[in-house]
Amino acid sequence: MNSTFRLFVLGVACLPLGLTGCGLESHPAYSPDVRYGVRSDPIVMAAPKLADERVDPDRPGVLPMMRFDDIFKPDHPYHAKATAINDTILRDPMKISGPDRSQIEASLRAFFGTPAEPIINAKALGISAKVMQDLKLDDETLAMGATRYRIHCLHCHGVPGDGRGPTARWVNPHPRDFRSGTFKFASVDQKTGPRLPSRADLLRTVRLGLEGTAMPAFLLLKEEELESLVSYVIHLSIRGKAEMNVMKTDFAPDRDKGGVLDFVILNEEGPSTIPDLISGYAADNVNRWAASLESTSAITVAPYKADDMKESIKRGKQLFTGDPIHPRGKTANCVSCHTDYGRQAKFKADDWGTLVRPNNFTQGVFRGGKRPVDVYYRIHSGISGSGMNAFGGTLQPQDIWDLVNFVTVLPYPEMRRSMGVNID
Ligand code: HEC
Ligand code: HEC
Repeated sequence: MNSTFRLFVLGVACLPLGLTGCGLESHPAYSPDVRYGVRSDPIVMAAPKLADERVDPDRPGVLPMMRFDDIFKPDHPYHAKATAINDTILRDPMKISGPDRSQIEASLRAFFGTPAEPIINAKALGISAKVMQDLKLDDETLAMGATRYRIHCLHCHGVPGDGRGPTARWVNPHPRDFRSGTFKFASVDQKTGPRLPSRADLLRTVRLGLEGTAMPAFLLLKEEELESLVSYVIHLSIRGKAEMNVMKTDFAPDRDKGGVLDFVILNEEGPSTIPDLISGYAADNVNRWAASLESTSAITVAPYKADDMKESIKRGKQLFTGDPIHPRGKTANCVSCHTDYGRQAKFKADDWGTLVRPNNFTQGVFRGGKRPVDVYYRIHSGISGSGMNAFGGTLQPQDIWDLVNFVTVLPYPEMRRSMGVNID
C-alpha cells in the first residue's frame, strides 16, 4: 500500500470521528527513520566579541551559522574578523573524528530516544521519579509533544531544537536554539547568575508568543497540548545541552593534526567514557530544570509603593541616564546599551552567535510581555544570552519600579509631555 493511499484510507476512516476526533490523522508522528543527528554547526565557546557593534542587522539568509565556514562568506557579520576566529571563540564540531561523533550520537540516542520515540531515560541517568513527574517528562507527554512540535514548531526551531529549521534564516530575531539551555524570558531570580525558566515561563511564551518577533501565539491549542510542547522543548534542551557540554568540555584541539578535536580526559577521578560524561551532564541539566520549578526560585516582586508617578518617572530617568544625578547617587547606566533610549542602539553578537539589538523604548514593543511585572522581571534578572544583565543585585525594588514607570511611558509622546519627560 503506497503512502498516499494509506493516508487516504486513514482520512476516510477518520471522517465519522469528526475533524478533531482523529488524533492519528491530524497529528502524524515522525517517521521512525528520522534522527536528531549529531551536531554539525559551530559552538559558541565564549560570549563572542566577534564583530564590532553594527548599525545594520544581518541580511536575510545569512544567520544562524549552519557550518563553521559560513564566517568566511563576505556578507557574514563576522567576516571582517573571520581569520582571527579560533577554537577558543567558535568550535567546529566537524573536527571531532567520525568514530567519536558516532559514539556521541549513539549515547544520546540511548538516553533521549528518537523524534518518533522521544524519552528521558530516567533509570540510566539516575533521575528520581518525582523530578520526572514534576517536569512532566514521561514518555506519553513527550510523544504528544513531538507530534505537535513537528507540525507547529519544527520549521523554525528545527528537528533537534537547533533553531535552524528551514524558516529560521529568514526571520530576525532568529528562532531560539534550545541546545544551549539558555532562554531569555523568565520569572526566575537570576541576580546571582543565569538559571533556567520555569515551566510556567515557557508556557507563557508558547501560549502568547513573543511580541515583535516571528514567534507566534498558540492560544488555540488545548492546554494539554501546550503542556506537552513545553515538556518536549525541555527534552530537546536537555539533550542538546548534554551534547554541547561534552563537545565543549571533553575535546581539545590537536595543533599537530591541524586542529582536529581529540577526546581528552581532564578529570582523572571523574567519568572517563563519552556515555558516562553525557549521562552526568544530562542529569545535571535535568536537575537545573527542576530547581527552577521551586517556588523559592521565583523573583520576589516587591509591591509598588504608590507615590507621585511624576517623581517616580523622574527618578527612573535619572537611573537610566545618570543625568541629572539620582537623589541617592545611584546609576544603572542603561543608556550604555540602550543608546538614545534605544533609538540609536547598535546590534551586538549574542550567546547564540546571532545578533541582538537593545530595545528601542520609543516603539513600545516588549518581547517578554508589557505588563509592568514583565518589565520588572527583565530589569531584575536580565535577559539571558542577550547581554542584558541583571540589576536585582544592585538596585532596590523601588528603583526597579521607577525604571519600569520610566520605560513604559517612553512610547507615548503625549504622556511624556504630561509627565515632564524630555528625550529629544
Ligand atoms: C515562525 C517561526 C517560529 C515558530 C513557528 C515557532 N517559533 Fe518559537 N521562537 C521563534 C523566534 C523568532 C524566537 C526568538 C525570539 C527572540 O529571540 O526574542 C522563538 C523563541 C522561542 C522560545 C524561547 C523563549 C525564550 O525565553 O528564550 C521557545 C521556548 C519557543 N520559541 C517555543 C516554540 C514552540 C514550542 C513552538 C511551536 C508550538 C514555536 N516556538 C514555534 C520563532 C518561531
Ligand atoms: C549590556 C547591555 C544592556 C544594558 C546595560 C541594559 N540593557 Fe536592556 N536590553 C539589552 C538588550 C541586548 C536587549 C534586547 C534583548 C532581546 O530583545 O533579546 C534589552 C532589552 C531590554 C528590555 C526589553 C525587554 C523585552 O521584553 O523586550 C527592557 C525593558 C530593558 N532592556 C530595560 C533595561 C533597563 C531599564 C536597563 C538599565 C537598568 C537596561 N535595560 C540595561 C541590553 C542592555
